[in-house]
Amino acid sequence: MSMTLRRLSRAATAGLVAAAALTAAAHSAEAADTLGSAAAGQGRYFGTAVAASHLGEADYTATLDREFSSVTPENEMKWDATEPSRGTFTFTSADRIVDHAQSQGMDVRGHTLVWHSQLPSWVGSLGASDLRTAMKDHINGLMGHYKGEIHSWDVVNEAFQDGGSGARRSSPFQDKLGDGFIEEAFRTARAADPAAKLCYNDYNTDGVNAKSNAVYNMVKDFKSRGVPIDCVGFQSHFNSNSPVPSDYRQNLQRFADLGVDVQITELDIEGSGSAQAADYTKVVEACLAVDRCTGMTVWGITDKYSWRSSGTPLLFDGNYQEKPAYDAVLSALGGSGDPGDPGDPGDPGDGTASCTATYTRTADWNSGYNGQVTITAGDEPISTWTVTVTLPAQQSVSSLWNGTPTWNGNVMTVKPSWNGTLAAGASTGFGFTAAKNGSDAAPTVGTCTAS
Ligand code: XIL
Repeated sequence: MSMTLRRLSRAATAGLVAAAALTAAAHSAEAADTLGSAAAGQGRYFGTAVAASHLGEADYTATLDREFSSVTPENEMKWDATEPSRGTFTFTSADRIVDHAQSQGMDVRGHTLVWHSQLPSWVGSLGASDLRTAMKDHINGLMGHYKGEIHSWDVVNEAFQDGGSGARRSSPFQDKLGDGFIEEAFRTARAADPAAKLCYNDYNTDGVNAKSNAVYNMVKDFKSRGVPIDCVGFQSHFNSNSPVPSDYRQNLQRFADLGVDVQITELDIEGSGSAQAADYTKVVEACLAVDRCTGMTVWGITDKYSWRSSGTPLLFDGNYQEKPAYDAVLSALGGSGDPGDPGDPGDPGDGTASCTATYTRTADWNSGYNGQVTITAGDEPISTWTVTVTLPAQQSVSSLWNGTPTWNGNVMTVKPSWNGTLAAGASTGFGFTAAKNGSDAAPTVGTCTAS
């Protein structure tokens, strides 16, 4: 299919889908028991990053379609994915996501046009004038292909340094084209697709600090000189080293006061249980308190596919069960599937106690090893748990602590020694010493059962 035909057919589809989206919004206003419908009730979108490679997984796509009203391709629109060699554009994976989003009436955020990372090496080896042309060609290539179909584009991503300097980050663009590359990118973008909102996106800019001050000054300068910019994206990747800032709302508001929309673009918060839920609440409340905060995007659907998977930073666990953080977000958005609503599978109060178990070898020597099994309660409190551990046939367990085993051949079923009570999301564990007897293989942990 020629480029022109593809563009025409993409635009035609987009028109049909806009009508479908209106119907979906009107319908969901009654229910408001999903993230997308509850956010719509507040005049906001609620989005997620999506990977094309997971769209074939039924639970992934069902959760996406049920809960979210916007998508951001997690990697598929980046320079390395779309223009791996100069002038050769590949849109297969990104098209898959855009087509899926349109079939569901979801908005699409374009991510991202000019960024130092996930940048093919050919870009870095160009001289200044060639690089300027290549940057504009790249912007025109992507924005042309998706013209009229993208809600907001992250035109430039992460152009400022971390820390207190407020300086621009070194990159081929910065180093060869100077500060002006950002302005050139935005001007090119506006001409390429006047319907898309043009955003600057960055991280560690969520509170008031030297880096966000530098971005603020740039946006202020752009607005005063008529450089086209419509929105600022706050990535909002949080963890214990980088917690939700106490001046988050204030920071969002000062950008909004410059005359741009603000969006939370890549939200994830490492942690679990009620602490994680409380942090998510803070973020949603900050956005809702700022009129020009038009929507939020979480950086993935399920913890198992998160780029920071070990920090379990998302709203759905690895089995697509709603976590306490999900309920907190839904309730902060004014949704009706609040904790305790017995109609919502996966909600606290739905009567489904659950747990997960993971195994690690904590010590190792020639003839034996120590194993540790960590038990984590699901999204509601549990009063007891049971987990099976299957050992390689030769191995034998010489001692076990913090648990009581019963044996069936080489399968041990372990229960708590005394009190198995765990709060929602809380963890406990048991340990054991095994003799290898010639087999160094790891035991297999079976299903964790809770009540
Ligand atoms: C991350 C993706 O989630 C990963 O899959 C990939 O390996 C690296 O990039 N800031 C951004 C996002 O703007 O594009 C990054 O996404 C996370 C940090």
